[in-house]
Amino acid sequence: MKISILGTGYVGAVTGACFAELGNSVVFVDIDPAKLDLIRTGRSPIFEPGLDELLGKNLKRISATTDTGEAIRETDVTFICVGTPSNPDGSIDLQYIEAASQAIGEVLQQKESWHTVVMKSTVVSGTTTGIVQRTLEEASEKVAFRDFGLASNPEFLREGSALADVFSPDRIVIGAEDPRSREVLERLYSSFDCPKLVCAIPVAEMIKYVSNAFLATKISFANEIGNLCKLMGLDTAEVFEGVGLDARINPAFFRSGIGFGGSCFPKDVRALIAQAEAAGVPPKILSSVVAVNEEQPMRLLDLLKKHIPDLRGKRIGVLGLSFKPDTDDIRESRAIPIVSALLEAGADVIAYDPLAIANFRSLFPDISYASSAAEVLQSDAILLITEWKEFEALDYTGKLVIDGRRLPKAAIGSIYEGVCW
Ligand code: UDX
Repeated sequence: MKISILGTGYVGAVTGACFAELGNSVVFVDIDPAKLDLIRTGRSPIFEPGLDELLGKNLKRISATTDTGEAIRETDVTFICVGTPSNPDGSIDLQYIEAASQAIGEVLQQKESWHTVVMKSTVVSGTTTGIVQRTLEEASEKVAFRDFGLASNPEFLREGSALADVFSPDRIVIGAEDPRSREVLERLYSSFDCPKLVCAIPVAEMIKYVSNAFLATKISFANEIGNLCKLMGLDTAEVFEGVGLDARINPAFFRSGIGFGGSCFPKDVRALIAQAEAAGVPPKILSSVVAVNEEQPMRLLDLLKKHIPDLRGKRIGVLGLSFKPDTDDIRESRAIPIVSALLEAGADVIAYDPLAIANFRSLFPDISYASSAAEVLQSDAILLITEWKEFEALDYTGKLVIDGRRLPKAAIGSIYEGVCW
């Protein structure tokens, strides 16, 4: 199949490379020529393990252009993969989605053959059949579903393991209301042996939000229980090991600690809250999920202050800056509120991360950055923020360690405190 991918950010780059690997020809479109140059030479515009290799291997099936018209004319199906950033009230900003729909619509006007437009970006339920469809119809002056079809095909990719998530998914969700678009997606995914749910487009969009909101809820629940376990002298990980053995519950996403970050969970939960509020049903559970997540990093600070009440002039080592291991992404990383609070308390911060220092430096240019994890150990206290594998190999003997992610090796510190254990 001939596929165009609008937007070469995280979702677009991974999706396009994987479709090329499946034997399709893929045209990447972006307004940023630098990203396209990288793709043309088999290099990924974002950090994701294995993605460079996948792009390199499939270069003969890949092209890249800034010209949306050319890409759409040459392909049968377009995946919208542009960003949906947050508005200040938590709702999502649809300006890039609208611009992409407008651009597609204008080209569809001149296109003779059928075209399927698939929403891959995370958008709240009702967006594709609402504003996207309206914009496409107005721009193309065509009757809905006559010359083009619409579909939703949400992604469930975790950064750091995105390729494995694409090739071995738990399920594929296909939101399609016209048979031709449904068939296009079923053909694209025909080689996958996993449950495939075909449903209405707004249902597909909702599945994505509800999945992320539920996983975020599990984490905040584990953290709330973890705070109680800590006070009771119990190891919350052991408690959740027992809880997760119940097949109705499942053990995943119960790791308590300093909370969730990243480009999806915080944004998606807030967007769902904003949608529910706008619908007149303000959610209580989801609001608490956010509240628990915002307080959780401060527990690490409280534990630190228990041992060093006055942080002024104290050298505090921060191990890990990315929102989780194996990525350079610092979006909504718990390191951000923690470093801010340390600076506010007058601490002298030295930080290390295997990949995320450059990104973190743009937010915090004035803290010290170490060139190795071992260098951070020479501090008055060490805060473990991200569970990078290499931090397990450090010698924490004699150190004051406050652990936000449960690194068993760190427990040999002379003083060791875990947030929820
Ligand atoms: C997530 C979803 O997992 C994925 O399906 C979706 O499409 C995009 O959002 P991602 O943000 O890449 O993926 O990371 P994930 O591995 O889910 O972790 C998110 C955050 O939750 C991280 O900060 C992680 O440290 C935290 N987390 C995760 C916990 O605190 N406890 C857990 O048990 C699991």
